[in-house]
Amino acid sequence: MRPQACKKAQQDRLEIVNYLELDHREEMMRLVEQGLRAENKWLHCKYLYDQRGSELFDQICRAPEYYPTRTEKALLERHAREIMDFFALNGGDLVEMGSGSNHKIRRLLDQFSPRAGASLRYVPFDISQSALEEAARELLDIYPGLEVMGIVGDYTRHLDALPPGRKLVVFLGSTLGNFGEAQGLKLLKGVAEALNPRDRFVLGLDMVKPVEVLEAAYNDAQGVTASFIKNILAHLNRELGADFPLEHFEHHAFFNPARECMEMHLRARRDLRCRVADLELELSLDRGETIHVEIARKFTPQGAREMFRQAGLRPTRWFSDQRGWFSLVELAKAG
Ligand code: SAH
Ligand code: TRP
Repeated sequence: MRPQACKKAQQDRLEIVNYLELDHREEMMRLVEQGLRAENKWLHCKYLYDQRGSELFDQICRAPEYYPTRTEKALLERHAREIMDFFALNGGDLVEMGSGSNHKIRRLLDQFSPRAGASLRYVPFDISQSALEEAARELLDIYPGLEVMGIVGDYTRHLDALPPGRKLVVFLGSTLGNFGEAQGLKLLKGVAEALNPRDRFVLGLDMVKPVEVLEAAYNDAQGVTASFIKNILAHLNRELGADFPLEHFEHHAFFNPARECMEMHLRARRDLRCRVADLELELSLDRGETIHVEIARKFTPQGAREMFRQAGLRPTRWFSDQRGWFSLVELAKAG
C-alpha cells in the first residue's frame, strides 16, 4: 500500500509518512459498529490513542502503582550498550513500533555515538499523529545528527511500511500483550517477515506475577487508568458523533487467571441509551453491562518461547530484572 501524504516538515532531518489518511475512518466505522452490535460489546483498543489518550497514557507511566515502565526503563538502561552494538560497525534504521512519546528510546539513543559510515535513522511508527510529531521534534532537538522518518500508521495493517534495509526493530511496553493470542501471533509473524537475516527485534514483555501487583497497576489510586480507558468514548463522541455520557461509565479492571491477562472494561452505572450518529446506530446498555476495551496479557518464559517458535523468531538474548517481572527479549528471524 502506498502512503497518501508525504510531507517534509520544516527541518530537513524529519520526514513523516502518513498511512492512515487512506482508510482510517472507514475501518474505524466498521470496527466500532461490529463491536457495539456484538452480544458482548467491545471496542478496539487502538482507538484509545487520540491526542488526549496519548497524554493520559504518559501519566499512567508515571503512576506509582504502574511498575512496567520503570522496570523496563531500568532494563533498557542496563543493556542499552549491548542492544545498540547492532549499530557499532554498520548504520541502519532503529524502528520503534508504538513509539508514543519516545521516552524509552532515549535510553538507547544515548548509547549511540556516530562513527564514520555508521549513520542511524530513527523510525517511530505510531497511530497517534500528534504524539509522533511532538516526540519526533523533541528528539531532533536533543540529538543534532539524528534523522527521523516517522510513520503514522496502524501496525496491524501497515507493516509493509517498515523500511526494507538493515534494521533493529523495538516494540516496548508489553504492547504485544494488548493483542489476543491469535492477533499477537499474526503481528509477530508480520515482523518476522519484515526482518532480514541479520536484523534484530527487541520485544518488551510483562510477565505473570502476584495478582495484587497486577490489579493495583491497572487501578491506580489517582484514577488515571480509568480516565484513559474512558477516553475511548470521548474519542468516539468526537470522531463518530456519538453521545456516550462518560460520567455514567466506570472502569473495571481485573486479572483473568485462565487467560493470564488483565481485562479492562467500561461498565454502565445505570441503564443507558446511546447513539452513534455517523453509524446511525442506537444502542442500549443495561445497568452493570460492560464494554470490553483492553486486555494486557502477562507472559511466562515458556509461553513466550513457544510463541516465538510459532512466529518464526528465535531469541538471541534475554534480559530480565531480578524479580523476573519484565523481559526484554532480543530476537532474530528463525532458520
Ligand atoms: N512504547 C510506549 C507506548 C506504549 S502505549 C511505551 O512503551 O511506553 C502504545 C502505543 O502504541 C501508543 O503510542 C499508541 O498510540 C500506539 N498504538 C496503539 N495501537 C496502535 C496500532 N494499531 N498501530 C500503531 N500504533 C499503535
Ligand atoms: N501495554 C501496556 C500494558 O499493557 C500499556 C497499556 C496499554 C495500558 N493499554 C493500557 C496500561 C491500559 C494501562 C491501561 O500495560
